[in-house]
Amino acid sequence: MRENLERLKLQVASELEAVESSAELDALKVKFLGKKGELTAILKQMGKLSAEERPVIGALANDVRKFIEDNIALRSEIIAKAELEERLKAEAVDVTLPGKQKELGHSHPMTHLLDEICDILIGMGFEVVSGPEIDTEYYNFTALNHPAGHPARDPQDTFYFNDEVLLRTQTSSVQARVMENRKPPIRVIAPGRVYRKDEVDMTHSPMFHQVEGLVVDRNITMADLKGTLDTLFKRIYGNDAKIRFRPHHFPFTEPSAEMDLQCFACHGEGCRVCKGEGWIEMLGCGMVHPRVLEMCGIDPNEYSGFAFGLGTDRMTMTRYGVNDLRLFFENDIRFLKQF
Ligand code: DAH
Repeated sequence: MRENLERLKLQVASELEAVESSAELDALKVKFLGKKGELTAILKQMGKLSAEERPVIGALANDVRKFIEDNIALRSEIIAKAELEERLKAEAVDVTLPGKQKELGHSHPMTHLLDEICDILIGMGFEVVSGPEIDTEYYNFTALNHPAGHPARDPQDTFYFNDEVLLRTQTSSVQARVMENRKPPIRVIAPGRVYRKDEVDMTHSPMFHQVEGLVVDRNITMADLKGTLDTLFKRIYGNDAKIRFRPHHFPFTEPSAEMDLQCFACHGEGCRVCKGEGWIEMLGCGMVHPRVLEMCGIDPNEYSGFAFGLGTDRMTMTRYGVNDLRLFFENDIRFLKQF
């Protein structure tokens, strides 16, 4: 047994030399020190020894165990160091390399202006609501007091799916939906896309954008409308922005008006931006027609309201000095990047 133990020591020493990974080392540990390992196998024969030999061999066996453990620990340290170095080499990062520039996107200029308008109006107490772009003839026309045969209903101007369903031609279609479902006070805006059968050219597109505004409460007057729009346009174009109202007609407002903004480029002198007019037409507006209120179940003797519908596409064009609307919808990244 003494010889066996001595041999085991030598064997361990030589096998350890060859070990190069921690996995191999673990296997070796099991091989020599495990329950079915070689040292255990030798110790199992202790029973055959005489009473005098047993403590001597026992002490020797303990020495051998300690020898094996110490050497494995030593080897383990060396291997761990080598493995760490290898990993550091493999995962090395050259911090002197220039970084890769990530291209950051941004919102579309149309969306940007819509968001800005909404932010301002939200700040004035409006709530943003939305309605469907595929809507019914009722919400788009009838509820807005368009009589049968009104020219706006003409299939030459409106995309119909069938007699009742259409692509909304105006965000005003959201008005009745809101008034049917809420009691005054109502103070909402509805931004979104609208559709009309327009030929595509520099200033027309069959799809464009509007922001609808609607306020219904007791004692709402034209002064509230003017104050709201004056504030909105001063916030967008600066404190010297001037607006004016011209009488107009819309079936769902009475009285109705169109609102112009004094040209922000020439301040009324007349220039290319305003096509020599000095003023730029911005929106339609008015006091909600009593019949519209009534159809939505709101008593016009108790409540009144104002509404406006602002087209934002031409506004985006004049703001950024872009003279062709088509550029905004072609999604040429070289164009869009400029904003
Ligand atoms: N919906 C109208 C249009 O598309 C614009 C409009 C006019 C909206 C008057 C309104 C309004 O809310 O009161 O031409």
